Amino acid sequence: MNKIVSVTLFLIIIIASCTDPVEVTYDSSPFNLQYGSLPTPDLPSDNPLTVEGVKLGRMLFYETLLSKDNTQACASCHIQKDGFSDLNQFSKGVEGKFGGRQAMTIFNMAWHNNGFFWDGRAPKLRDQALKPIQDPLEMNEKLENVRAKLSNSPKYIDQFKRAFVNGTIDDKNISLALEQFMFSIVSYQSKYDQYKDGKAMLTDSEERGRQLFFTEFDPSGKVKGAECFHCHAGPNFTNDEYMNNGLDDDANFKDLGRAKVTMTTDDNAKFLTPSLRNIEVTAPYMHDGRFITLEEVVDHYNEHAKYSTTADILLQYNLQSGGLKLSSQDKADLLSFLRTLTDQSYLNNISYSKPN
Ligand code: HEC
Ligand code: HEC
Repeated sequence: MNKIVSVTLFLIIIIASCTDPVEVTYDSSPFNLQYGSLPTPDLPSDNPLTVEGVKLGRMLFYETLLSKDNTQACASCHIQKDGFSDLNQFSKGVEGKFGGRQAMTIFNMAWHNNGFFWDGRAPKLRDQALKPIQDPLEMNEKLENVRAKLSNSPKYIDQFKRAFVNGTIDDKNISLALEQFMFSIVSYQSKYDQYKDGKAMLTDSEERGRQLFFTEFDPSGKVKGAECFHCHAGPNFTNDEYMNNGLDDDANFKDLGRAKVTMTTDDNAKFLTPSLRNIEVTAPYMHDGRFITLEEVVDHYNEHAKYSTTADILLQYNLQSGGLKLSSQDKADLLSFLRTLTDQSYLNNISYSKPN
């Protein structure tokens, strides 16, 4: 009898506490960023990653209210299974118009220290985050409308309170939350990472490809080298610099890239060296998505790179000696190596997927 009374009392207390409106407050619990053997990232100290901040950024990343007609989210062009890029050469915006550049991948943004976008026009990730919302070729929405739409949503009113001390639904907090979520997306568990940690073996072909990738081009032809590592350098396979990899000669520069930001002709047709992690799944390739396959990319570097006034010196050197002279076996090996950079854990990580 006594037991029944106490169980009933217990249930009443539970039910009562559930119907009480719970006060939503700021929660500073830090987000635990996992990055394996990658170096410690240099994150901005004025926007510490918190569990609730990352959660808000994830909600916003998948939120169609950010676009003019409420049909498009960031995730419409940045699709997780494709390395958060777009398989279309150019992405279609809400007005049905197409931009002129290939959507970029999103991972390891925390190690990106030299600007965002193909031409680096956004110095910080938080600056980047508000641009696609307002871009007429992308989501084409006014920030004041976004603020108003989110302010009508109880779910967002609460989540901004949990994520920020001032709890305000404003442009700054929208950009900081998106920055936090994008910083939380990390790719560090490819076969190549496991190999580096001594936990996986490369096949003979992958190992030959690895050597070609990391060996300098030798004009005498004694040593075979594909010269990729000078530009696709370091743990993320990018030197974080703007370069011209010989896609066009001067007469055919269509997109001036970095020069549009720096206004100097020395930067004509230079673009950010992209990371090669997950490259197998992020076709098409280059800033204008001109190559459909990785085979075409390797053929470009092997024999089709073009001379121009801003083409990187490494390519000019190769061009003068008649290309890299890779055999079909060498090319196949290089591709096998590139495929070791695919990271299934990242591509399938449910913490980056659409929230319920
Ligand atoms: C209509 C398609 C589209 C939508 C929607 C879109 N993006 Fe993008 N995104 C792109 C394209 C295209 C680029 C490359 C643009 C350029 O360099 O000029 C890009 C580049 C980026 C980059 C740069 C990555 C790097 O390595 O520098 C980030 C980060 C990014 N987008 C995040 C977002 C966020 C956050 C949203 C939502 C607020 C969003 N995108 C919405 C197409 C889109
Ligand atoms: C001189 C520097 C340089 C060298 C050497 C170089 N790359 Fe690149 N790579 C770049 C730049 C810059 C881009 C982006 C160019 C653009 O889109 O305009 C790029 C783009 C790529 C892309 C497309 C990435 C994407 O997301 O679209 C692949 C794949 C690639 N390189 C592989 C290689 C391989 C393999 C080698 C060696 C055979 C190599 N690169 C050598 C600088 C270089």
